[in-house]
Amino acid sequence: MKVVVTRKIPGNGVKMLQDAGYEVVVGEQDGPMDRAQLLEFIKGADGVLGQLTDKVDEEYLNAAGPQLKIVANYAVGFDNFDLPALSSHNVIGTNTPDVLTEAVAEHAFALIMAITRRIVEAHKLARTQSSSFGPEVMLGMELKGKVLGVLGLGRIGSRVAEIGKAMGMNIIYYDIKQNPDFEAKVGAEFKATPDELLSISDVVSIHVPLLDSTKHLINADRLKMMKPTAYLVNTSRGPVVAEAELVEALKNKVIAGAALDVGETEPKWVPGLVELDNVVLTPHIASATNEARSAMGELAAENIIEVLNERPPKTPVKKP
Ligand code: DGY
Repeated sequence: MKVVVTRKIPGNGVKMLQDAGYEVVVGEQDGPMDRAQLLEFIKGADGVLGQLTDKVDEEYLNAAGPQLKIVANYAVGFDNFDLPALSSHNVIGTNTPDVLTEAVAEHAFALIMAITRRIVEAHKLARTQSSSFGPEVMLGMELKGKVLGVLGLGRIGSRVAEIGKAMGMNIIYYDIKQNPDFEAKVGAEFKATPDELLSISDVVSIHVPLLDSTKHLINADRLKMMKPTAYLVNTSRGPVVAEAELVEALKNKVIAGAALDVGETEPKWVPGLVELDNVVLTPHIASATNEARSAMGELAAENIIEVLNERPPKTPVKKP
């Protein structure tokens, strides 16, 4: 059987597939394949270990052929999957939950600290001027005692809340489902609407999946609900934030700042964003630790091996 890995990955995932006896073909290109290349590359595959940049839809499934049994996404998010198309082709989709929770939550916190303590601005200043103390130089915001609003209390949102609690923050959260056990464990408070959360948070960290209902969840109107001293952090999916509206809000100091690991128009940022001082940007690297990225490949490989052996996968995607 043939397994296609659409981009090089760290760790033992490819070796696991080779050891299982499959013909394994790995895309050796730098960066994602363009669509025509991808459609050609997956032809005849029984299983694909794919990237979140690979849109898995009718066209993709037809190009792969009727022997295809599984597409294992190298990501926890699977908004690149057309779920009805996968089920009409009898193809199983899997993702990589849990193994990247810590990496993404730690990165969300790195961004929270970077934007509230102006680390990137300060780094630029230190490199261009003498590095000296000044009573009013680079004043930022302390986190202890501040309100951390977690939008989406899944695995990653929960871990971010725990880290925030350990930093002495007051935790509030919004999710479609209230979680009393988590509230008791972490001392978090549920807010029944995103609007309630936005209006009282000092830092808002976004952890919702990208769905029709969450696209542009944060728009100009909702940014106006936030405190002018508050910060927005996004490590989920770019289109959850209407980024052109965020640029305007940042320019007009509607909020104090934003830190983004994901962009609405990846791989490019929306016009006007990179020029601003009150933003910190990273290029979709929240899960980029050796530990997480290796484990993601290994979990994806395990899912492929299970399905090609006619067993259920460990982590099938579930309709959100
Ligand atoms: C994911 O897994 O969905 C991240 O965005 C990439 O690791």
